[in-house]
Amino acid sequence: MQDKSFDDLVANIQNEILQQTEEEFGQAFFERWNNPQFMQEMEYPDTSASLTGSCGDTMQIFLKLERDNIVDASFFTSGCGASIVCGNTACELAMHKSLEQAAALEGEDVLEVLGGLPEEHQHCAHLAVQTLREAIRSYWAI
Ligand code: FES
Repeated sequence: MQDKSFDDLVANIQNEILQQTEEEFGQAFFERWNNPQFMQEMEYPDTSASLTGSCGDTMQIFLKLERDNIVDASFFTSGCGASIVCGNTACELAMHKSLEQAAALEGEDVLEVLGGLPEEHQHCAHLAVQTLREAIRSYWAI
């Protein structure tokens, strides 16, 4: 049986990390970081793409289409917490859009939803949107 004081210590540290993250990055970031609803690999996507950013992290985006509309989107990343949040936000923004509308999304749209990100994490938003655009581009190229 585990020591209760050890469990309490772990729970306190976890709570502190959650609180610090919310304070540092804001609620919109925190909610997506704590529960990234679109984070999963998709089994039979109609199109997908995988890009590796200059930071070395890889972002994958998967899309399910009906005619030219995005009816499902998901992502997976090997990257940092910010890349998880940005991948999730890019999928949210792409959902129920036409391919043309989604292809017009910019990294700034992701940053706007999140209320901005610190300078060193802004490229995560651009990587997520570039990967989305690449998935669309490769579908159009078929
Ligand atoms: Fe590479 Fe966030 S640091 S995607």
